[in-house]
Order: sequence, then structure tokens, then C-alpha cells
Amino acid sequence: MLSKRINNISYSPTMKIANEAKQLIEKGENIIDLTVGEPDFPTPENIKQAAIKAIENNFTKYTNNVGIVELRKAIAHKLKVENKLEYSTDEIIVSSGAKQSIFLAIQSIVDDGDEVIFSSPYYVSYPEMINIAGGKSVIIPTDESTEFKITPEKLNKAITSKTKLLIICNPSNPTGTVYTKEEILNLAKEIENKNIFILSDEIYEKIIFDNLEYFSFACSSKSLKEKTITINGCSKSYSMTGWRLGYAAANKDIINAMAKYQSHNTGNASSISQAAALEALTGNQNSVVLFKNEFEKRRNFLFDELTSIEGLVCYKPKGAFYIFPNIKNFIGKVYNNFEIKNSIDFSTFLLREGKVATVPGIGFGAEGYIRISYSTSIDKLKIAVMRIKEALSKLNNL
Ligand SMILES: Cc1ncc(COP(=O)(O)O)c(C=O)c1O
Repeated sequence: MLSKRINNISYSPTMKIANEAKQLIEKGENIIDLTVGEPDFPTPENIKQAAIKAIENNFTKYTNNVGIVELRKAIAHKLKVENKLEYSTDEIIVSSGAKQSIFLAIQSIVDDGDEVIFSSPYYVSYPEMINIAGGKSVIIPTDESTEFKITPEKLNKAITSKTKLLIICNPSNPTGTVYTKEEILNLAKEIENKNIFILSDEIYEKIIFDNLEYFSFACSSKSLKEKTITINGCSKSYSMTGWRLGYAAANKDIINAMAKYQSHNTGNASSISQAAALEALTGNQNSVVLFKNEFEKRRNFLFDELTSIEGLVCYKPKGAFYIFPNIKNFIGKVYNNFEIKNSIDFSTFLLREGKVATVPGIGFGAEGYIRISYSTSIDKLKIAVMRIKEALSKLNNL
């Protein structure tokens, strides 16, 4: 008999379509996979070499529970120089991926019945992590009209006496929206004098376009910095998803709480990945710029192409590597006895008729949309766009 806790957690509803895509690929079908949630570039050479050196030097044992001090110093330096945030090394914890840092933060802050505010479309793990902690998700729906951003009015309405935490995903997975400094400061005003913590998920921080300047939530004010947990890591910026290396910065009490949990959980992040992360943060940063430029080129291409398709409505993303088209104009259309009733059907249609795999919006709490990842080469994107156009013309010509 499995525990109630585990029975309360669900796999993403998008698994079904992912499985169908997998089956088609196994059958030898030429499917273009636009569901990918990680950069398609290899980890930069200098980072790989640092890891190889770590192994050769037998840097292969348990480390300090919160991460090696050299890495925490490098993170503190990065936060100071790039984000204008001062943290000491004991206000930083290194974990096995940003996902673990978020999990530890939620476990350390959220009690049974506490409310956690975040917006939809959301990163799929937030509701389940809150669920595991016994908290209650309070979801603020957003759409293109506010660039998928929470407005101060909506935030104000969502706050109750039970609100314990606000999660801001900036840039956002899945919409690619990026909050400006002014927008962050306006949200900050709404919670400045309230007893609410903020989790600022900044994992896509370095993938922002149009020369935007990044503004970290913890910069909003001194008192909010004390209540903010800044989450970041190496996965997306340095194409290191498999290394499992993330970190959090917050006040000592929160970091100590997270460290206590981590000490009985993974213990510490991999020593080898920590050595690699040290090189990522302190070594040559050229790859970060190359990755960003390539993503921006692809964003421009994909946005222009998708918006030329009749019926698709697209918000132009400002960051990350996803685009989140509104597909509501296709709901109710029937092709070959297959009716498109929702985003799962739409993605299924694109998979079967266009041989392109996408993620239905329902998995992100946003029915009527799909997520397309452009973490694949421009050449493949060109073919994908042709196939999408052809498939959707079948619906448009009905
Ligand atoms: C918004 C967001 N936060 C956190 C993560 C987790 O990152 P990591 O690979 O460092 O655990 C992801 C990964 O997809 C993400 O999209």
C-alpha cells in the first residue's frame, strides 16, 4: 500500500502525448521534437575539463552539506556583480539542481494549509511541490493581455491572511515573459509590509532578449531581500541540465533550514558538478552569450513564422527558449473524424498530421495553448514550421 502523500502527487497530464511521440519515434517515424526543456548545446569545453580534472584529482568525496566554500564564494560574487545583491557564503546553499533548491525552500517555509500564490501558465513542478508540503496553490490566471504577467491588482486580490509565499518565475517557463524592473517594483509594493516570503525563480536569467536588463526580485527593497529566496543554477545558462547543479540565496535562517533538510536528503550536490559549476561561474563566459544569441535568432524566426499562420495567436517571448501560442481558434474543428476539443487534442493533431511534438498548455495550467520549445537547430525549426503550416492548413481549409 503506497502512502497517501505519494498518491496525492500526479505525473504531468502531458505524459500521454510525450509517450505517443516516443512510440512514433521508436517506430521509425521522423518526428521533430519541440517539447525539449533543456538547451541543445553541449556543455562548454572549459566546464567539462574542470570536471575531468576534479575526477583525476580525486575530488570525488562528500563535500560540505551546503556546497564547497569556493563555489559559494563564486555565487556570492556573481550575485553581487550581476544582480547587485550582497550575500555572504553562509546565505547560499548549493543543491542538486534548481528544482531541489525550490523543493527545499518550499519545505522550509510552507506548512499545512498555507497558501502559495503563483501565476498560470506555471512551471509544472510548483503545484506538486506545494502539494507535497501540504500547502494550497492559489493560482492567478494570466494571458497575452498582460504579457502573461501578474498585475499588482490581481496580486492584491489573491493575498489572504493565509498567504505564506509568492512564487515569481522570471523569465517564465512556459511563456518566456520577462518582468521589467518597474513591474517587479509594483508587485513588491503590494507585499512590502506583509508577512509573505517570495521565491524568485531566476533559472532562465541569462536567456533574455531585445537588450533587456534583468532585475532580481530581491533588489526591490532591503526588507523584501530578507524575505526573498533567489533561485538560480547552471542548467539553462551553461547547458548543464544533466549535472544537476542549482543554488539558492536567502537569509541565514532560511538557508540553515534548507541545509537541515538537504543533510538528510541528498547530503550535498555532486562534488564533480560543483567543480564544474565553479568553472562555469568564474571561467570564460563566451558560451553564455553565444547560446543567448542563438536562442534570440530562433525566437525571431519562429515568432515571425508562427504569427503568419491563420488562427494562431502568439505573444512574442522576451526570454527562455519557449513560445506559447494561443490555439483557441482551432478548438471545435474536426478533421478525419478527429475533433480538437482542447490543447491535448491540438498537440495530438500536430503530432499525427504534422509529425511535430509539442506540449499541451493544460500541463502548465493553461488550456487553449501549447508550448513550443526552440531548443533545436534553425534547420529543424524550418522543417517543423513547414509541417505545422501544412497540418494547420487542413484545419483552416475546412
Ligand atoms: C522555471 C524552472 N525552474 C526550475 C527548473 C529546474 O532546473 P534544474 O534543472 O536546475 O533543476 C526548470 C527546469 O526546467 C524550470 O523550467
